Order: sequence, then structure tokens, then C-alpha cells
Amino acid sequence: MSKINDLDMSKWQELTDVWTDSLWIISHRDNSGAHDGHYHGNFVPQIPHQLLARYTKAGDFVLDPFAGSGTTLIEAQRMGRNSIGIELQPGVAAESICRIHSEQKEGIIADTFVDDSRTFDTKRILETYKINSIQFIIYHPPYWDIIKFSEDENDLSNSASLDEFINNFRQVVRNTSAILEKKRYCAVVIGDKYANGELVPLGFYCMQAMQQEGLTLKATIVKNFEETKGKANQKALWRQRALQNGLYLFKHEYVFVFKKEK
Ligand SMILES: C[S@@+](CC[C@H](N)C(=O)[O-])C[C@H]1O[C@@H](n2cnc3c(N)ncnc32)[C@H](O)[C@@H]1O
Repeated sequence: MSKINDLDMSKWQELTDVWTDSLWIISHRDNSGAHDGHYHGNFVPQIPHQLLARYTKAGDFVLDPFAGSGTTLIEAQRMGRNSIGIELQPGVAAESICRIHSEQKEGIIADTFVDDSRTFDTKRILETYKINSIQFIIYHPPYWDIIKFSEDENDLSNSASLDEFINNFRQVVRNTSAILEKKRYCAVVIGDKYANGELVPLGFYCMQAMQQEGLTLKATIVKNFEETKGKANQKALWRQRALQNGLYLFKHEYVFVFKKEK
């Protein structure tokens, strides 16, 4: 197997900070430096950190088609990986680039394109950085309409129906995985939602969409999360609703890992 990371397997017993279990309990967000965590809907830096440690080497190119506040790019930069983000909202992208570059590392690229990831011409990435492919992709799409990120109709959080959301997500996967190097990996971070008293398993639909795009499922990881800022004050109310309606409150989301075999 050709090497896809910088882990020294001759010292594998010392690699205790690299996780191999499928249950990730993360007790606190790494808020260090540029990771200020202000963006509603961000993910914890430990997610890209673990994935980049397992599936990339120094100097590789990482793509995040839903870049948001740039958590992936900050972490990639710290780990000596080049990273490219695509983000629909110009203001969000501009703000994140300022923070990312506040930690800039000599010789490491971290850049964001403002565009719709479904239709963005990914050749622009290859041409701009004179590369043939990228080595890892991390997808952290809106969890459909749980958080409305913008008024833009191209924003996946404004998809009119579940089918439209999954179809939009699938278009992003198709468009971006086309430039992923063969035999390399990508991952999606996604949670489920309730609508009208029914659980909508967005995670499993997105997993299936990626499989339908020809990617091979390699890992299903369950990660805990604490309540979001919005729900924190309503803890008791949500618990009452859960008890009353036979539901369970979400305390987890998924990280699904795939390999591009073909
Ligand atoms: C869940 S957030 C990603 C957060 C990111 N992981 C972070 O830590 O900040 C999803 C992001 O996707 C963006 N987005 C939604 N639809 C998009 C599209 N069609 N193309 C590119 N970005 C899109 C939203 O503006 C939002 O910033």
C-alpha cells in the first residue's frame, strides 16, 4: 500500500493521539489561535485534525467545498498541508481568510474560492496551483435546513425538499471528487434531523449519495456533540418534548470516510 500519511508505523504504539475507534467523544472544542469558534454551524477542529493525520501527508492538497469559517484550512495549515476552500458567501469567505492568514506558514497554501460547489470549475484549482489532483476532501454541508446559512437560493440550506437537498449534495460530491486522486480518501460530517415528529436520517442519505457517486465506504464514526448555542437555554423544554413524543435528543453526528477506488 502506498503511503497516504506521515505516520511512522515502526513506532505505531506511540501514536496514542491518533484515533482508531469509531466512537469519538470530544469533551471540548479546540479554540486556540485562529479557531475562534464564532461561526454558528462550524465543526470542532479535532475532526479535520484526526482525518488529516490519517489520510494526508505534509504537502498534500486538501479541499473543503463547504469551507464556512475555515476550520479545515486552519488545521491543514498548522499540519503543513495545503488547503483550498469553496464557500458560497463572500463575507464568510473573506473573514475566514483573514483569520487563516493570521497564522500563515511559509510555503503552505490556504485559499478560498467564493462560488457554488455544485458548479464551480474545479480545473481552476488545478490550474492555479499547477497540480494534477487533490489528496483529500472533507464535506461538511448544511444539515439541510437546520441552520439557514444565507438567503442565497444556491445555498444547500435553502433546498426546498429532502430530495432537492440530497441531489444538491450529490452534485457537489460529483463535481469535486472528480479531482480527487485515485486511491485517496474523503469524508462527510453530517447529522440527522427531526421534521413533523419524524426522524429524517440525513446522514444515511448522504452516505448513500456518496456511494452512488462511486465512492467506497471505509468507516462510519459516531461523534458526540453538546447542545448548540440555540438549544442550550431550552434544555428542559426539549427533554419534555422528547419524553412526551417518544423521541431521543440528538447528542451525536456522523463522520463517514470513503475511498476513491476507481
Ligand atoms: C456546516 S457549514 C460548514 C462549517 C465549517 N466546517 C466550519 O467549521 O466553519 C456549511 C457551509 O456551506 C456553505 N454553503 C452552502 N451551500 C453552498 C454551496 N452550494 N456551495 C458552497 N458553499 C455552500 C454555507 O454558507 C456554510 O458556510
